[in-house]
Amino acid sequence: PEQQNGRQLTSTPSFSNMQAYGLEPQDWTKSALSIVVVGASGDLARKKIYPSLFALYNDGMLPEYFNIFGYARSKMSDAEFREYIASGLTCRLSNKDECGDKLEEFLDRCFYHAGQYSDSKDFAALSERMAAKEEGRKKADRIFYLSIPPSIFTQVAACASDAASSPSGWTRVIVEKPFGRDLESFRELSEELNQHLTEDQMYRIDHYLGKELIENLTVLRFANLVFEPLWSRQFIRNVQVIFSEDFGTEGRGGYFDEYGIIRDVIQNHLLQIVALFAMEQPVSLDAEDIRNEKVKVLKSMRKIDMDDVVIGQYRGRTTKGNHYPGYLDDKTVPPGSLCPTFSAVAMFINNARWDGVPFLLKAGKALHSRRAEIRVQFRHVPGNLYRNKLGVDLDRATNELVIRIQPNEAIYLKVNNKVPGLGLRLDVQKLDLTYKSIYNKHLPDAYERLILDVINGDKRLFIRNDELEAAWGLFTPILQEIEEKQIAPELYPYGSRGPVGAHYLAAKYGVRWG
Ligand code: NDP
Ligand code: BG6
Repeated sequence: PEQQNGRQLTSTPSFSNMQAYGLEPQDWTKSALSIVVVGASGDLARKKIYPSLFALYNDGMLPEYFNIFGYARSKMSDAEFREYIASGLTCRLSNKDECGDKLEEFLDRCFYHAGQYSDSKDFAALSERMAAKEEGRKKADRIFYLSIPPSIFTQVAACASDAASSPSGWTRVIVEKPFGRDLESFRELSEELNQHLTEDQMYRIDHYLGKELIENLTVLRFANLVFEPLWSRQFIRNVQVIFSEDFGTEGRGGYFDEYGIIRDVIQNHLLQIVALFAMEQPVSLDAEDIRNEKVKVLKSMRKIDMDDVVIGQYRGRTTKGNHYPGYLDDKTVPPGSLCPTFSAVAMFINNARWDGVPFLLKAGKALHSRRAEIRVQFRHVPGNLYRNKLGVDLDRATNELVIRIQPNEAIYLKVNNKVPGLGLRLDVQKLDLTYKSIYNKHLPDAYERLILDVINGDKRLFIRNDELEAAWGLFTPILQEIEEKQIAPELYPYGSRGPVGAHYLAAKYGVRWG
C-alpha cells in the first residue's frame, strides 16, 4: 500500500460486481479515480452520496487511488467539508465494528472546491486540483455526480465536459432525477445534454433500481423454474405496485409542488418496477439487452385513461393531541395548490403475455405506513375442491406473491394450508423469505450499488433515453389534462389510507388493494 497524506491506504479494489456479469474488470492498479460531487453542499449529497461513498470505501470497494471533490457555490474549507461529511455519516456497520480509523482515512481523501456552476474557469481550476492528486498514475478517470437542481444540469455538463473532463481516461456523469417534467421538457434537456455528453458517458439514476429487492426481481423470475410459467395473464389476476410514506413533503414542498407525486414517484420508480416485472427474458444480462426488453414493455402500454387515475392531497389532522400539518400548511407551497401528493393509476400492457391484466400503481405521502411493495394476486383455483373448507374470505384466499421492497425486505407467497389437527379446515399462511431472518447482514443502500456500477461502467441499472421517452409519452397526456382542467385532488387526512377514490378504482377491476 502507498502513502497519501501521510497515511497508509488500506482500500483494495474489488471487481466482483464486474466479474459476476462477465464484464472485463478495469485494472485500477495504474489508474486514479476522481469523484466530483457537484452540489456538494446539498441535501442529497449529505444524506446519500457521502454515506454511500464511505460505505464503499469501508468495504474495500473503491479503487486504491481515489479522491472525492465537493463542488458548489457555498464557501467551505477542506476541513469544513470533511466536518460536513462526517456530520451526516451514519456507519452502517453494526456497533461492534470499528470504522473510526477508516473514517479518518476516507475524509483525508475528500477535498472541497467552491465555484460557480456556469463558469468554465472555476471548473478548470477544479480540474487542476484534481490533476495534482491524480499525478503519478498512468491514467485518471473522473466521475461527476450532478446532485443539483435540474435547471442547471446543462450548464454544469457543459463546463465539466469542456474544462474538467479527464485528459487521460474516461469521464462519466451521473444525472439525478427529475429528468424533465413532461415529454417536451425531457426532449429539450436530453438534446441539450447530448451536445456536451455522449450517451455512453451519461448515467441517469433512478435509485429504486439500486434497491436489493428490485435487483432481485430478475433473479426471482429467471433463475427459478417455478415462477416464470405462472407469470402471465393466464394465472395472474392483477399486479399492484404500492409506494407509501408516513411523512409529508416537509421541507421539500418547494420542489415537490413543481412536480407532484406522479412525476416524483410513479412515472419513474414505479413504472421502472413494472417494466422489470413484466419484461420478457432478455437475451443476456448485458445492459442493452435488459433495457431493450424494458422499452418494449413501456411501448406496449395502453394510453392511460383519465378515468383510471385518482389524485389526492393530504390535509392536516389532529389526533391524540398531536397536530400533523396538511400539504397546504407548508410555507414553501403556494396557497391553494392543487398538487397531488397521492395518486393511483390503473395501467395495461397490450401484449400477449399481459393483455387485460390490471397493473395498479399507487403512491402517496403522509399515509398511515411506510412501505414499498409489489403484490401479485393470482387467479382463483378452478374447480376448487375446498371451496367450503376455508376459514377465510374466499375472495382473499387466492395465492398472492408479495415482494416487499422496504422496510423489512421480504418475499412471501400466501398459500392455502390445512390447519393441522383433526377435521379439515384451511387457512392462509405464508411461505416466507424475510431477509433479516435469513441473511444476517446489512443491505447496502441503493446509492452504494449504483455508484459502484458507475465506477465499473455497468449500465444495467441506469435509464436509457428511449425508456424515458416512452415513460414521459405515457404520463404527459394525463399530467396535462390534470393541470389544464385544474382537477382538484381528493383530500385525505394525514396518516390515513388515502382517498377512497383509490378503492373505487381498484373495485372497478375487481381488485382489493393489498
Ligand atoms: P438541493 O436543493 O439541496 O441543491 C443542491 C445544491 O445545489 C445546493 O446545496 C446548492 O448549493 C445548489 N443549488 C440549489 N438551488 C440552486 C439554484 N436554484 N441554482 C443554483 N444552485 C442551486 O438539492 P438536493 O440535494 O435535494 O437534490 C439534488 C438533486 O437530486 C436534485 O436534482 C433532486 O431532484 C435530486 N434528488 C434529491 C433527493 C433528495 O432526497 N434530496 C431524492 C432524489 C433525487 P450551493 O448554493 O452551495 O451552490
Ligand atoms: C425520491 C422522491 O425519488 O424518492 C421522494 O423524490 C421520495 O419524494 C423518495 O421520498 C423515496 O425514496 P426511498 O428510497 O426513501 O423510498
